[in-house]
Amino acid sequence: MSDNLFAVVRTVADLRRQVAAWRKAGDRVAMVPTMGALHEGHLSLVNLARGKADRVVASVFVNPTQFAPHEDFDAYPRDEARDSALLAEVGCDLLYAPTVGEMYAPGFSTTVTVAGVSEPLDGQARPTHFAGVATVVTKLLLQCGPDVAVFGEKDYQQLQVIKRLIADLDIPVEVVGAPTARAPDGLALSSRNAYLTPAEREAAPALARALNRAAERLRAGDPVEAVEAEGRAALEAAGFSRIDYFEARGAADLARQGPGPITGDTRLLAAALMGKTRLIDNLAV
Ligand code: PAF
Repeated sequence: MSDNLFAVVRTVADLRRQVAAWRKAGDRVAMVPTMGALHEGHLSLVNLARGKADRVVASVFVNPTQFAPHEDFDAYPRDEARDSALLAEVGCDLLYAPTVGEMYAPGFSTTVTVAGVSEPLDGQARPTHFAGVATVVTKLLLQCGPDVAVFGEKDYQQLQVIKRLIADLDIPVEVVGAPTARAPDGLALSSRNAYLTPAEREAAPALARALNRAAERLRAGDPVEAVEAEGRAALEAAGFSRIDYFEARGAADLARQGPGPITGDTRLLAAALMGKTRLIDNLAV
């Protein structure tokens, strides 16, 4: 247990009061936005944030606007007591856990949409998702005003959307992307892994294996279309029931790669359904 005085605030006013006091004392502040159900991956973000600032604020807010009506907003795992204990243990200073009413007051009418990087991949599969993410991340950053904000590379497209909106809206914060934390068998850690049955959990690492194999082939100069087709076939063979995408894209602009070998900095991104659980993962090529 660290000996810091961990605290929880639920209002923008209380958050701002605490951050202002730290700033007055000359402290640099980092923020780690999350939706809770914390796992080692989130805790690695907090650890990274601690290395970049004197104070770390984590937010836990299951953001309704980034879930479509048929998605898992109601079922999304919530355990604030456990999340608080984990955050205190890794030396987080403050948990910001607003209510839905605090975040979206009656009459709330503003949406932040990011063209371009929001459009392909998850933008096709989940058409309203990134507007919800962009809106809540803009609000969280303006509410807290951190010097640095840490997001996981696990949600790689989300990270590019956030970088874009911060640049476009001149939000004075440094964004840091943290490497994906993985289970020993390669499965990317995700709060949604909790939905997998034991048999599905056993099959799920095929996603990371397919990405690794595809990255090797792309590095060797194999054509994008053949590599993507092999990746999709590997996921089908492993029991994934719906493959939303398995694609090589430009690492910063997420532009389509191919035909033929990759040119320039490339990221492989995949999303597929294992049972009822939609898993996403990605890899630098
Ligand atoms: O990555 C997440 O947990 C969420 O999308 C975020 C960035 C906290 C916004 O709700």
